[in-house]
Amino acid sequence: MRILSGIQPSGALHLGNYFGMMRPAIELQDQGEAFYFIADYHSMTSLSDAAQRRRNTQDVALDFLACGLDPKKCVFFRQSDVSEVTELAWILSTVTPMGLLERCHSYKDKKAKLADDDLDRVNHGLFAYPVLMAADILLYDSNVVPVGRDQKQHVEVTRDIALKFNNLYGQTFVVPEPRIRDEVAVVPGSDGQKMSKSYGNTVEIFAEEKPIRKKVMSLLMDSRTPQEPKPDAEKNTAIQLLKLVAPAEVAADFEARLRAGGLGYGDLKKGLFAHYWNYFAAARARRAELAANLDYVNQVLREGAQKARVQATRTLKRARQACGLE
Ligand code: ADP
Ligand code: TRP
Repeated sequence: MRILSGIQPSGALHLGNYFGMMRPAIELQDQGEAFYFIADYHSMTSLSDAAQRRRNTQDVALDFLACGLDPKKCVFFRQSDVSEVTELAWILSTVTPMGLLERCHSYKDKKAKLADDDLDRVNHGLFAYPVLMAADILLYDSNVVPVGRDQKQHVEVTRDIALKFNNLYGQTFVVPEPRIRDEVAVVPGSDGQKMSKSYGNTVEIFAEEKPIRKKVMSLLMDSRTPQEPKPDAEKNTAIQLLKLVAPAEVAADFEARLRAGGLGYGDLKKGLFAHYWNYFAAARARRAELAANLDYVNQVLREGAQKARVQATRTLKRARQACGLE
């Protein structure tokens, strides 16, 4: 099994990223050959601050390694260190119907959001984003792609592109499958919507204690009194997050108390904060060690890129031969 996934360096990573993508990816590193990368080319579609991209890229590397990504078990690299992917993206773009990209939710959402204030930011890269993502996946002959639910359509686009190319030029690419964990497919943010950097409703994996405590304490709740029973307790955002970071019996106990009435939202959030803080304690310590040893982190990425390039070169050659460039 060849596993591959990527994450953009577009801001501090949060619980949605962790439970939706990072933890599944980390668990899969024991089950096959895993390739994980920092999608810095992709981040260019929405972020145009060079210094910030550099900083974010380093932060993602630190976050991922601190959370348990093991460079001895997987290949961890920066997307742009293997620039072969851009050539494959071009090749794939010539077999990608415009309509396929026009239907992508992620593009349509971003376009709708940008359209009001700045139409110029709806750039070609944003539109072509899924083609580059297809190149990422196909370049490494990946069959399993662990992602959150919002990326499912992009993996389906990749499948369509691979089939189209194989059909036109002969069997060349492995057709991949998304791997989505139902229980963490959509982690809710502080306002109850999907947690996302672009909605400003995130709870970061790593942050200073005081501001993150404040964030957790200000999770949006309704105005029912503590005494009122809450028959919909399982829908409460704090309960949903608690289920991720606390032992099952602890989360079940909080949920039962909320359902019965008598548990105030303040106490629920305090409980959530304590478990969240504790859940990442070991990772936080590891992150501090790594941050003091950036040479090691850079070396991991350099060695990852070398290994990734071996595979990338092989697949690119196969694709070039298939379509008559060689
Ligand atoms: P964001 O929405 O914050 O910009 P990304 O789009 O960069 O996050 O997502 C990176 C990875 O994390 C993807 O695999 C995505 O599916 C996953 N992910 C992001 N937010 C969530 C969430 N709220 N629940 C589950 N998975 C998520
Ligand atoms: N589009 C993904 C995201 O925003 C990041 C990504 C880029 C990716 N290339 C990929 C994920 C290939 C999986 C496989 O989260």
